Amino acid sequence: MSHASQTSGPVQALALSDATRARFAREAAKYPAEQAQSAVMACLSIVQQENGYVSVEAEQAIAEFLGMPVMAVHEVTTFYNMYNQRPVGKFKLNVCTNLPCQLRDGYKALHHLEQKLGVSMGETTADGLFTLQQSECLGACADSPVMLDNDRHMCSFMSNDKLDQLIDGLRAAEGKA
Ligand code: FES
Repeated sequence: MSHASQTSGPVQALALSDATRARFAREAAKYPAEQAQSAVMACLSIVQQENGYVSVEAEQAIAEFLGMPVMAVHEVTTFYNMYNQRPVGKFKLNVCTNLPCQLRDGYKALHHLEQKLGVSMGETTADGLFTLQQSECLGACADSPVMLDNDRHMCSFMSNDKLDQLIDGLRAAEGKA
Protein backbone atom coordinates (compact mmCIF):
# COMPACT_ATOMS: atom_id res chain seq x y z
CA MET A 1 0.00 0.00 0.00
CA SER A 2 1.28 3.41 -0.87
CA HIS A 3 0.88 6.28 1.51
CA ALA A 4 1.98 8.87 -1.01
CA SER A 5 2.10 12.32 0.46
CA GLN A 6 2.05 14.67 -2.50
CA THR A 7 0.68 18.04 -1.52
CA SER A 8 1.40 19.83 -4.76
CA GLY A 9 -2.06 19.35 -6.31
CA PRO A 10 -4.35 22.30 -6.82
CA VAL A 11 -6.56 21.11 -3.97
CA GLN A 12 -5.28 20.90 -0.43
CA ALA A 13 -6.06 17.45 0.94
CA LEU A 14 -8.36 17.16 3.91
CA ALA A 15 -6.32 16.62 7.06
CA LEU A 16 -7.20 13.10 8.20
CA SER A 17 -7.39 12.33 11.88
CA ASP A 18 -5.40 9.37 13.21
CA ALA A 19 -8.67 7.54 13.73
CA THR A 20 -9.71 8.07 10.12
CA ARG A 21 -6.32 7.00 8.82
CA ALA A 22 -6.60 3.87 10.93
CA ARG A 23 -10.01 3.13 9.43
CA PHE A 24 -8.65 3.66 5.92
CA ALA A 25 -5.70 1.38 6.69
CA ARG A 26 -8.00 -1.37 7.93
CA GLU A 27 -9.94 -1.24 4.66
CA ALA A 28 -6.81 -1.11 2.50
CA ALA A 29 -5.35 -4.08 4.38
CA LYS A 30 -8.15 -6.26 3.02
CA TYR A 31 -6.41 -6.17 -0.37
CA PRO A 32 -2.91 -6.98 -1.62
CA ALA A 33 -0.64 -3.93 -1.25
CA GLU A 34 -0.62 -3.23 -4.99
CA GLN A 35 -4.42 -3.24 -5.05
CA ALA A 36 -5.04 -0.84 -2.18
CA GLN A 37 -7.13 1.27 -4.57
CA SER A 38 -9.83 -1.36 -4.22
CA ALA A 39 -10.59 0.24 -0.86
CA VAL A 40 -11.67 3.50 -2.49
CA MET A 41 -15.40 2.92 -2.01
CA ALA A 42 -14.92 1.98 1.63
CA CYS A 43 -12.81 5.10 2.21
CA LEU A 44 -15.41 7.30 0.53
CA SER A 45 -18.08 5.79 2.78
CA ILE A 46 -15.96 6.46 5.87
CA VAL A 47 -15.47 10.09 4.87
CA GLN A 48 -19.16 10.51 4.21
CA GLN A 49 -20.07 8.87 7.50
CA GLU A 50 -17.74 11.23 9.37
CA ASN A 51 -18.42 14.46 7.46
CA GLY A 52 -21.82 13.99 5.86
CA TYR A 53 -20.45 14.37 2.36
CA VAL A 54 -17.37 13.88 0.20
CA SER A 55 -15.56 17.14 -0.50
CA VAL A 56 -12.90 17.56 -3.17
CA GLU A 57 -10.42 17.94 -0.31
CA ALA A 58 -11.51 14.53 1.00
CA GLU A 59 -11.13 13.01 -2.47
CA GLN A 60 -7.60 14.40 -2.54
CA ALA A 61 -6.84 12.87 0.85
CA ILE A 62 -8.15 9.47 -0.24
CA ALA A 63 -6.17 9.64 -3.48
CA GLU A 64 -3.00 10.40 -1.56
CA PHE A 65 -3.64 7.70 1.01
CA LEU A 66 -4.36 4.99 -1.55
CA GLY A 67 -1.75 6.21 -4.05
CA MET A 68 -4.16 6.73 -6.93
CA PRO A 69 -5.07 9.68 -9.18
CA VAL A 70 -7.59 12.02 -7.62
CA MET A 71 -9.59 11.89 -10.86
CA ALA A 72 -10.07 8.15 -10.39
CA VAL A 73 -11.46 8.80 -6.90
CA HIS A 74 -13.73 11.51 -8.28
CA GLU A 75 -15.07 9.15 -10.94
CA VAL A 76 -16.21 6.77 -8.22
CA THR A 77 -17.79 9.58 -6.19
CA THR A 78 -19.76 10.82 -9.15
CA PHE A 79 -20.74 7.38 -10.47
CA TYR A 80 -22.64 6.31 -7.37
CA ASN A 81 -25.73 8.12 -6.15
CA MET A 82 -25.00 7.27 -2.54
CA TYR A 83 -22.02 9.61 -2.29
CA ASN A 84 -22.99 13.17 -1.48
CA GLN A 85 -20.85 15.78 -3.17
CA ARG A 86 -22.15 18.54 -0.93
CA PRO A 87 -23.85 18.71 2.46
CA VAL A 88 -27.32 17.18 2.52
CA GLY A 89 -30.26 17.22 4.90
CA LYS A 90 -30.81 14.68 7.63
CA PHE A 91 -33.05 12.72 5.28
CA LYS A 92 -31.92 12.31 1.69
CA LEU A 93 -34.85 11.32 -0.47
CA ASN A 94 -33.98 9.87 -3.87
CA VAL A 95 -37.01 9.46 -6.12
CA CYS A 96 -36.54 7.23 -9.14
CA THR A 97 -37.42 8.97 -12.39
CA ASN A 98 -35.81 6.50 -14.75
CA LEU A 99 -37.97 5.54 -17.72
CA PRO A 100 -39.99 2.62 -16.28
CA CYS A 101 -40.79 4.73 -13.21
CA GLN A 102 -41.49 7.78 -15.37
CA LEU A 103 -44.22 5.76 -16.98
CA ARG A 104 -45.65 4.90 -13.58
CA ASP A 105 -45.88 8.19 -11.66
CA GLY A 106 -42.22 8.68 -10.80
CA TYR A 107 -42.39 12.37 -11.71
CA LYS A 108 -45.74 12.75 -10.02
CA ALA A 109 -44.11 11.59 -6.77
CA LEU A 110 -41.13 13.89 -7.27
CA HIS A 111 -43.33 16.91 -7.98
CA HIS A 112 -45.56 16.12 -5.03
CA LEU A 113 -42.53 16.11 -2.76
CA GLU A 114 -41.31 19.38 -4.25
CA GLN A 115 -44.61 20.96 -3.32
CA LYS A 116 -44.85 19.31 0.07
CA LEU A 117 -41.31 20.27 1.06
CA GLY A 118 -41.23 23.64 -0.68
CA VAL A 119 -37.99 22.89 -2.51
CA SER A 120 -36.96 22.01 -6.04
CA MET A 121 -35.26 18.80 -6.97
CA GLY A 122 -31.64 18.91 -5.77
CA GLU A 123 -32.36 21.31 -2.92
CA THR A 124 -32.43 20.99 0.86
CA THR A 125 -35.21 22.36 3.06
CA ALA A 126 -34.37 25.44 5.11
CA ASP A 127 -34.60 23.45 8.36
CA GLY A 128 -31.90 21.09 7.08
CA LEU A 129 -34.20 18.10 7.38
CA PHE A 130 -34.77 16.97 3.80
CA THR A 131 -32.76 16.86 0.58
CA LEU A 132 -34.75 15.90 -2.49
CA GLN A 133 -33.01 14.25 -5.41
CA GLN A 134 -33.76 12.32 -8.57
CA SER A 135 -32.29 8.89 -8.89
CA GLU A 136 -31.54 6.31 -11.54
CA CYS A 137 -33.15 2.88 -11.48
CA LEU A 138 -33.32 1.48 -7.95
CA GLY A 139 -34.05 -2.02 -9.18
CA ALA A 140 -37.66 -2.03 -8.05
CA CYS A 141 -39.42 -0.83 -11.19
CA ALA A 142 -42.51 -2.94 -10.53
CA ASP A 143 -43.07 -1.07 -7.25
CA SER A 144 -43.09 2.41 -8.80
CA PRO A 145 -43.19 5.12 -7.64
CA VAL A 146 -40.18 4.20 -5.55
CA MET A 147 -37.87 6.20 -3.39
CA LEU A 148 -34.73 5.52 -1.38
CA ASP A 149 -34.44 7.14 2.03
CA ASN A 150 -30.86 7.85 3.16
CA ASP A 151 -29.41 5.33 0.69
CA ARG A 152 -30.83 2.49 2.75
CA HIS A 153 -34.57 2.31 3.12
CA MET A 154 -36.56 1.51 -0.01
CA CYS A 155 -40.05 2.98 -0.08
CA SER A 156 -42.40 1.34 -2.60
CA PHE A 157 -45.69 2.30 -4.22
CA MET A 158 -45.34 5.90 -3.01
CA SER A 159 -48.71 7.45 -3.69
CA ASN A 160 -49.15 11.07 -2.68
CA ASP A 161 -50.88 9.90 0.51
CA LYS A 162 -47.99 7.63 1.42
CA LEU A 163 -45.51 10.41 0.71
CA ASP A 164 -47.43 12.75 2.99
CA GLN A 165 -47.48 10.14 5.75
CA LEU A 166 -43.77 9.54 5.41
CA ILE A 167 -42.81 13.23 5.50
CA ASP A 168 -45.22 14.03 8.31
CA GLY A 169 -43.93 11.06 10.29
CA LEU A 170 -40.30 12.04 9.85
CA ARG A 171 -41.04 15.65 10.76
CA ALA A 172 -42.95 14.55 13.87
CA ALA A 173 -40.09 12.25 14.90
CA GLU A 174 -37.75 15.22 14.69
CA GLY A 175 -40.12 17.44 16.64
CA LYS A 176 -40.80 19.61 13.61
CA ALA A 177 -44.36 18.60 12.80
FE1 FES B 1 -37.35 3.13 -11.19
FE2 FES B 1 -36.31 0.88 -12.00
S1 FES B 1 -36.82 2.57 -13.19
S2 FES B 1 -36.83 1.44 -10.00
